[in-house]
Amino acid sequence: MSKSETPVAPVETATLDRRMFCASALVAGAALACGGGSSATPSTPGPPPAGPHTTTDTKAALLGTADGTARDYRNLGFLLLKDATGLYAMTTICTHMGCTVGLPVGTRIACPCHGSQYDLQGGNQVGPAVLPLVHFAVTEPSPGAFLVVNTAQTVSDTTRLT
Ligand code: FES
Repeated sequence: MSKSETPVAPVETATLDRRMFCASALVAGAALACGGGSSATPSTPGPPPAGPHTTTDTKAALLGTADGTARDYRNLGFLLLKDATGLYAMTTICTHMGCTVGLPVGTRIACPCHGSQYDLQGGNQVGPAVLPLVHFAVTEPSPGAFLVVNTAQTVSDTTRLT
């Protein structure tokens, strides 16, 4: 097994609840109190490692979660999400200037640097970013195996693993 195929535990699991919303609101408020962020620097100095990454999530387990569930693999440059149509992965690199976006809160994913917001499918909702978050290929190498997200392979924003 190569280094890029080593299972990596998610940093944390995001579910869309009141506690997460309040925590994010506090962070957003702190950013505004410090000048709004127009002079903010990207929180990710370089691109995340590209290539296939083996997660610690299985298809069956993640499909059994609530719609809107997001697994946090921002350390590898992506979120692994579940919606009503299946599983998908998106970049966590903001298309404005490359900051790492936050975890989903409600139906939005916000960038802490300049306030861009995306919907849970990566579509732009609030600028200054004008491009959507790209989606990455998600595969189940064998039945019951940990899911693999290939950050070197982009796919349509409607592609789902079911
Ligand atoms: S880097 Fe500017 S809004 Fe995200």
